[in-house]
Amino acid sequence: MAGTIYPPEPHRALDRDRASKPTFKVSERTSTTTKNGQPPISVADIGTGTGIWLVDLAPKLPPTARLDGFDFSMSKFRPVAARPPNVRLMEANALKPFPAELHGQYDLVHVRLLVLALRTASWEPLFANLCTLLRPGGYHLWEDVDMANFKGYPATTKTAGIVSQMMRFHASQGSRGQPYLIGLDQLMATKGFTDARLGGFKTSSYWNHPTLSRPTQRMMFTVIVAYLQGIVQLGGFEDLLTTEDAARKIAEMIKETEVGEAKLDTWYWRTIGRRSLEGEGR
Ligand SMILES: C[S@@+](CC[C@H](N)C(=O)[O-])C[C@H]1O[C@@H](n2cnc3c(N)ncnc32)[C@H](O)[C@@H]1O
Repeated sequence: MAGTIYPPEPHRALDRDRASKPTFKVSERTSTTTKNGQPPISVADIGTGTGIWLVDLAPKLPPTARLDGFDFSMSKFRPVAARPPNVRLMEANALKPFPAELHGQYDLVHVRLLVLALRTASWEPLFANLCTLLRPGGYHLWEDVDMANFKGYPATTKTAGIVSQMMRFHASQGSRGQPYLIGLDQLMATKGFTDARLGGFKTSSYWNHPTLSRPTQRMMFTVIVAYLQGIVQLGGFEDLLTTEDAARKIAEMIKETEVGEAKLDTWYWRTIGRRSLEGEGR
């Protein structure tokens, strides 16, 4: 799959998605179940962080829904009092096999914003681990930013210069970089998933959105801050060598982006597929 991770023109994938929008509803049962004694809807969120995605999802599902978040670091977990009782957060490294008792348990396995933590070589084994969690007929949904296509605008701003430095570093990493998993839909298809599809949008589509503009820009800003700090930890690049350099660049970006002098753009991708009801794709 390595050669298929990036299409030369990512917007083509978007056009394909627009032509056939997914109609996924988490509230519909996805597995083969009987009317009597059917198990509750169950969702796993991988790399859950604070568990915010599950906390947001909880009110949209019956209170019997099983909402399990997994992360290899428990440091960010919301306290029990700050989450609904059916949201459980647990320690697990998704690069290692999940315990057998979790296999085949979930109607939906969701991943968001994990790509920054991954090496290119890791995502296929990680995906294989995630597949073990799915019930036959269960859905896998992965949404993430495209680390290879960040841009700052206008080109004359310091923000644009910092983002292009980040992209030069990204390119210098070759296969160690973290592209979004374009090609995951094709991998799903080879693993017996049905209706696997890739969709996405450019965050610039939301630059003028009354409510989404700010959170979208903040999300990207957070990713860039983590990335710049990561470059320093890896030994530095060009004039970004110390934590002070990173702090200075971050402050420059804050100054420009907070007043709207500079804006950030990238692709945000989403891949969804359904494990076959016959139990293939594990
Ligand atoms: C950028 S945060 C995203 C958090 C959350 N998904 C969200 O969208 O709010 C990435 C999370 O993935 C976790 N993570 C990274 N690698 C992981 C792994 N191999 N197994 C489990 N969690 C991992 C990190 O600890 C971090 O909490």
